[in-house]
Amino acid sequence: MPYAHITGWGMSVPPKVLTNDDLSKIVDTNDEWIRDRTGIRQRHIVEDESQSSATLGFEAAFQALRVANLRPSDVDLIICSTSTPEHIFPATACLIQDQLGATRAGAFDLLAACSGFIYALNMGAQAIKSGSAKNVVVVGTETLSRFVDWSDRNTCILFGDGAGAFVLQASDEPGGIYGGVMHSDGSGGDLLTLLGGGSRHPATELTVHTGMHYIHMDGKEVFRFATRVMAQATMDAVAASGWKVEDLSIIIPHQANYRIIDAAARGLKMPIDKFMINLDQYGNTSTASIPIATVEAAQQGRLKKGDKTVFVGFGAGLTWGALAVEWTGPLSTEKSVHPERDRLYGRARSLYRRIVRKIEKIIWGRNE
Ligand code: ACO
Repeated sequence: MPYAHITGWGMSVPPKVLTNDDLSKIVDTNDEWIRDRTGIRQRHIVEDESQSSATLGFEAAFQALRVANLRPSDVDLIICSTSTPEHIFPATACLIQDQLGATRAGAFDLLAACSGFIYALNMGAQAIKSGSAKNVVVVGTETLSRFVDWSDRNTCILFGDGAGAFVLQASDEPGGIYGGVMHSDGSGGDLLTLLGGGSRHPATELTVHTGMHYIHMDGKEVFRFATRVMAQATMDAVAASGWKVEDLSIIIPHQANYRIIDAAARGLKMPIDKFMINLDQYGNTSTASIPIATVEAAQQGRLKKGDKTVFVGFGAGLTWGALAVEWTGPLSTEKSVHPERDRLYGRARSLYRRIVRKIEKIIWGRNE
């Protein structure tokens, strides 16, 4: 059975930064409260329509392919984890596939809120281990700023926008993604919701008027749930891989709140500096937070070939999960494979197909 290695990684955040002081001009809050209660100092926020979940996801995925030295046309599968898709359909994964020029890839979205990247990574690894795919791109992308009520200080201070992506590749060399756990408890679904615009409550004047298109959260209960599950999920993933917690060089948790990570550290009896934390810079980017933290850990030299780590997260659903990973790095020894060439070819092919579809429509339209 092949192993599923993480061989490429990338991230993208929009340039606009919103600091706690900026927020204090919008809602009744202040920098000290936000830092004390969450650890967050600033977050990145999309501006106009040129920035979206698909554009951020594409940029992260393209970077990841560059690191892996892999052509988009070699990708078999793209899994995009997001709670803020570009549309209900088509899937954001398909928009990213088209932008990349990943002409052979299957593509689908997966929704497990902030735990989504762990679920998506696990699914991508299973596709490789079962032999149905060799090269998989897993993207986590969010633009939660488009769904927060900017007059609700309980939620608007928490979230930021961004994307992260990994390339997974098959290899007979041991390493990569080992054991993991995925859990859910739908009885807590009402603790964190965005109810408007789905099939139960399609968008109407009433759904907009009553704020159903915004995120609603019982922060205290979500906090309680998160502190209960993080340490246990980490231990379960480690046990499923036949490792010990002491084997871990670093733990990369979902970046929601410093106090939640601190509670996990205490639960695991591990020093807090074993945890990668960058939520002060980005806020809670939901499913993108684990890959963004991983990219920065790799850039800072905190993840080296052979290091053992656990990705662990929780989110709406309720969902939670963890994956044990032995860090690899690029497998390819080929000279640069120019992913840009595939991307341009893919764009040209996409344009050609759109034109052909338009011409066919005109011709068939005339014949009817
Ligand atoms: N600025 C100033 N004061 C505030 C703010 C704010 N932004 N927000 C709330 N307060 C006030 C409250 O009104 C309350 O005042 P009161 O005592 O007079 O009523 C006081 O501060 C304490 O509020 P709490 O809600 O008790 O604050 P708490 O310590 O629980 O922190 C927080 C709130 C940060 C939201 C915390 O509960 C939390 O992090 N929960 C987890 C949230 C989370 O991680 N969500 C994402 C899940 S992942 C996903 O799927 C997207």
